[in-house]
Amino acid sequence: MYLHVIDHEGQEHTLEGLEGWRVMEVIRDWGLSIKAECGGACACATCHVYIDNEWVNKLVPPTDEEVDRLDEAFFVESNSRLACQILMTEDTDGLRVKLAPASD
Ligand code: FES
Repeated sequence: MYLHVIDHEGQEHTLEGLEGWRVMEVIRDWGLSIKAECGGACACATCHVYIDNEWVNKLVPPTDEEVDRLDEAFFVESNSRLACQILMTEDTDGLRVKLAPASD
């Protein structure tokens, strides 16, 4: 399964991911620039990404905890999510995200 990531330079990368991995883990393991300081504990918001408009409504909605973390992040948009809170599944195969400015 694949994840498409647009980096800070606007370059798109197609990354192979495994079912059950977090989107943040796929981005980090392929060496793209994402801080993810808390390691996926939904405690830092440094894994902030923008979800492609076509995908926004296809994802499981954010938990209250994720919404609270996003409230503390910079440059938040209506399509903002935390990459550590989205799992790679059949339903997210082909997901397209863009790294947010504060996540590098
Ligand atoms: S890695 Fe810290 S909130 Fe996602």
